[in-house]
Amino acid sequence: MKVVEIGGAYSDLPQYIATQFGCEVHVIDDFGVESGEAEMWSRWGKREELLERNPNVRYIFDRVGNFASKQIPLNYYDLIFTVSTLEHVPPKAMADVFRHMEQMLKSGGKMVHCIDLQIPLKLHQTKDWKGLLAGTLGYYLYFALMNRLAPATNPQLKTLHGWKAFLKKVFGSQIDTSRVHPDGALMSSLDTNIVTEPMEIVYKYYPPKEQPKYYRRNGSFIMVIEKSPK
Ligand SMILES: C[S@@+](CC[C@H](N)C(=O)[O-])C[C@H]1O[C@@H](n2cnc3c(N)ncnc32)[C@H](O)[C@@H]1O
Repeated sequence: MKVVEIGGAYSDLPQYIATQFGCEVHVIDDFGVESGEAEMWSRWGKREELLERNPNVRYIFDRVGNFASKQIPLNYYDLIFTVSTLEHVPPKAMADVFRHMEQMLKSGGKMVHCIDLQIPLKLHQTKDWKGLLAGTLGYYLYFALMNRLAPATNPQLKTLHGWKAFLKKVFGSQIDTSRVHPDGALMSSLDTNIVTEPMEIVYKYYPPKEQPKYYRRNGSFIMVIEKSPK
């Protein structure tokens, strides 16, 4: 199989897939250079060093969504995947990223995206049933409206339903989201009690810089999209 991780950054997973499964594996990531965010996305070292560290992986230093790229192959991949990457793409650029990914996939190919979402309102900590009810209802109504109104060029991507609504707007009737499961629920796999970067890193690199900010609890979901065979 021809496999690509978009936003692979410093992960060793692509090298593992290449050596364990004999796939042709690529990583497409500009490490923030093209988007002007190099200070944040190149903070763990020079991207060129990865060529030696992961010799079985081909690195393409570019951004998906850049249709002018001569390096990114089209109609080429059997599998495109992302891990904790799409939530960092600015919403206004998301439709182009999906249209480009669709062009990169072969017919019958698949995308698998693992996306993190913030768990809102600290509802998981609410012990009082009235607070829980009001919070859940308010949250549901607010996002039901926002998901419907937000255009594909500036989507609302804070909930799983928001992602579904966005994909329908980009791909229209081509996409069948009826099999999305679990419907509206998140697998809470990124536990901020376990996965944290030191506060000095968070302060230094994440905007707004040098201002207090906190990790919110995150939930992750996995989205699988199949490009129909010709
Ligand atoms: C949080 S990191 C991903 C971490 C990595 N997947 C892992 O599991 O360790 C997000 C990465 O996505 C990259 N990125 C964001 N938008 C991108 C795009 N449109 N095309 C390619 N890479 C992108 C950033 O440069 C950054 O390296």
